[in-house]
Amino acid sequence: MAKQETTGRANWSGKWAFILAGAASAVGLGNMWRFPYLAAKFGGGTFLVTYLVLVFTFGISLLLLETALGRRTGLSAIGAFSHFGKKFTFIGVLASLIPFIITPYYCIIGGWVTKYTVAYIAEGAATLADGGGYFVNFMYSPSESYAWMLVFMVVVFAIVALGVKGGIEKANMVMMPALIVMALGLAIFVCCQPGALEGLKYYLVPDFTGVNVGELILNAMGQMFYSLSLAMGIMITYGSYLSKKESLTASCLSIGGFDLGVSFIAGALIVPAAFLAMGGAPTSAGPSLMFITLPQVFLEMGAVAKVVGFVFFLLVLFAALTSAISLTETCVSILSDAFRWTRRRSLAVAFAAVVLLGIFVNLGYNGWSELRIFDMEVLDLFDFISNSVLMPIVACLTCIVIGWLIREKVQQRGGGEAELRGTEVLAREIKVSSRFRGEKPWAIMVKFVAPVLVIAILVWNIIGVLS
Ligand code: TRP
Repeated sequence: MAKQETTGRANWSGKWAFILAGAASAVGLGNMWRFPYLAAKFGGGTFLVTYLVLVFTFGISLLLLETALGRRTGLSAIGAFSHFGKKFTFIGVLASLIPFIITPYYCIIGGWVTKYTVAYIAEGAATLADGGGYFVNFMYSPSESYAWMLVFMVVVFAIVALGVKGGIEKANMVMMPALIVMALGLAIFVCCQPGALEGLKYYLVPDFTGVNVGELILNAMGQMFYSLSLAMGIMITYGSYLSKKESLTASCLSIGGFDLGVSFIAGALIVPAAFLAMGGAPTSAGPSLMFITLPQVFLEMGAVAKVVGFVFFLLVLFAALTSAISLTETCVSILSDAFRWTRRRSLAVAFAAVVLLGIFVNLGYNGWSELRIFDMEVLDLFDFISNSVLMPIVACLTCIVIGWLIREKVQQRGGGEAELRGTEVLAREIKVSSRFRGEKPWAIMVKFVAPVLVIAILVWNIIGVLS
């Protein structure tokens, strides 16, 4: 471990390391198994355009806010908020809970993906494409599902243990480009199959029939938050590792563009693939799309099924690994900042926490499978609490605190003192390293637009569960 990482705060080697890390957090299971499904559900091009607009207005604004907050304070979420007053600490605490809730279930799914990647080689394409029996048997086997989670976790923790520069940066440098190449290669391959163009057309051409605009926007926003890993302390932590020399505006634009690009390619791969197999758009998202429907699609491809299936799951595995590494790094930095522990100790505690919580999630499938809370399995419940409840609450509080409550005294050049608002403090931080032409619209977004939209997401999510 580099000396600086045991004694002080880690640093990125440069702008590219930061962009890749942000993109690595962003590009994950959400891009692969939810984005294509949402795009197909909400009228193809209609969803794509809505999503594009949201990412480059709302999404980038919050990304800028979080990374600037991290760099300004040099701390992860809890410290960053308490820097502006003890009474704001709880927001950092709430944000910090989210990665601890997501990591365990993300590692369970990561384990499933690892298992499938290996199984394509070891067992062949036909075994996996049996209409769901294989998946259900595996998922409901307590030892197997948990054992694969541990395999996945060991890889993730080993990389995080090597440190920000020695582990995370290097892993991203290999996995992110490989991921793009595999995604592009597969998408092109699938689109060249006879009959695939119809699916591509369905994906790209806007279609308004039967699309409820409110639902479209709320779904697109929810997806954007999850995908850009906003409101969970991650981008605050990553911003805190960034040098004052590197442009925040350019970096955040690149991260948003990267994430959008991979989502777009995943859609161009999965929607046409579903058309090939079923003559229509994918009708499910999440596990059943990935582990049941797609293996059947691949099997139909005949001789290449094994290779296509393997490459596809390797692609998903890389996406899941890089995101899980990010989640783990956030847990580690939160622990070491909050309790002033060494990285090593924080890592050990985070590992133990994830192993224990993972048992709990796994029990939802094995042992407690009758257990339903609001009609959800434990994994879905974790997902719901973190993404549908805590995330909008944190996002809203963040915008209100930065937009309205924070005041900071600064020395002026002439000698006098001035009082800056939260948005001005962060705009200054952004301007340390680049011009910030969008300052006004950004401040309006943070103060007015974002809180309202985020509350709409929260209300809509809660109504969805209760009704
Ligand atoms: N963005 C990731 C995805 O699309 C999931 C995710 C949510 C995440 N929050 C995160 C990843 C925090 C890393 C860190 O699948």
